[in-house]
Amino acid sequence: GGTVVSRRDLAGRRVLITAGGTREAIDPVRYISNRSSGKMGYALAREAIRRGAEVTLVTTPTRLPLPEGAEVVPVESAEEMHKAVIERFDAVHVVVKAAAVADYRPAAPAEQKMKKQADRLFLELVRTPDILAELGRRKRGQVLVGFAAETNDLEAHALDKLRRKNLDLMVANDVTTPGAGFSVDTNIVTLFDRQGGKETLGLMTKDEVACRIFDRVIQIFANSCD
Ligand code: CTP
Ligand code: CA
Repeated sequence: GGTVVSRRDLAGRRVLITAGGTREAIDPVRYISNRSSGKMGYALAREAIRRGAEVTLVTTPTRLPLPEGAEVVPVESAEEMHKAVIERFDAVHVVVKAAAVADYRPAAPAEQKMKKQADRLFLELVRTPDILAELGRRKRGQVLVGFAAETNDLEAHALDKLRRKNLDLMVANDVTTPGAGFSVDTNIVTLFDRQGGKETLGLMTKDEVACRIFDRVIQIFANSCD
C-alpha cells in the first residue's frame, strides 16, 4: 500500500540503449535478420526515462511504439549501429546492449535486385564488428551491460562473454524456455556480475526485468568512485 513515488535514481545519468535485430542487406529489397522484437530494449528505455535518465535509444525498425522522452537514433545494419554507438560512447554513463546484432553480413550486397537463376545460391558472409567488445576495450568508467540469449550451456557462455567483453553485468536467458526470449512480454533471466555474483530472477515481465537491471546499475555506481 502507500503512495508510490517514482524513484529518480538515474537523474543526471546518460543512458544509451540498443534495441531490435539488425538487418543486413542482400540487395535493395532483401535482408538477413533475426527474431528479436525489440521489446526488452524498449522496456529498458521506458524504465530509464521513468527513473530520470537522459536516454538515447539506438534502434532497428520494430513494431513497437517509440518510448516518449527518448532521443531515438534509427539504424538498420550492425555497421550503422556500430557507428551510432561508438560516436556517443564517450558522452554516456551507461550502455545497455539489448540489441541482437548480426554476427555476419553479406560480403557484397547487390546494387540491383537479384534475379533468380540457378537452383542453388551461395551467399558469401563476412563478420560484423563486435560493438560491445569494442566498448569493453574503450570504456573509461562507463557501466556496460550485455545480453546473452543462449540455447545451451547458459552459464558458461554468459561468463565467457562477460569476461571477454569486459562487462559490468551480463543478462543471460535461455531462449528455449517457454516464457523467455523473443517476441514474448516476459523473460526468465540470470544476472552475472564481474565479482562472480549470480542472481537468478524468476519469470517476470520485461518491464520488471528492466527495473531489476537498473537496480543493479545503481548499485554498481554506488560501489564505484565517480
Ligand atoms: N554484440 C555486439 N556486437 C556484435 C555481436 C554482439 O555488440 N557484433 C553484443 C550483443 O548486443 C549482446 C552481446 O554482445 O549484448 C552478446 O551477444 P551474443 O550474440 O550473445 O554474443 P556473441 O559475442 O556474438 O557470441 P555468439 O553469437 O557467437 O554466441
Ligand atoms: Ca552473436
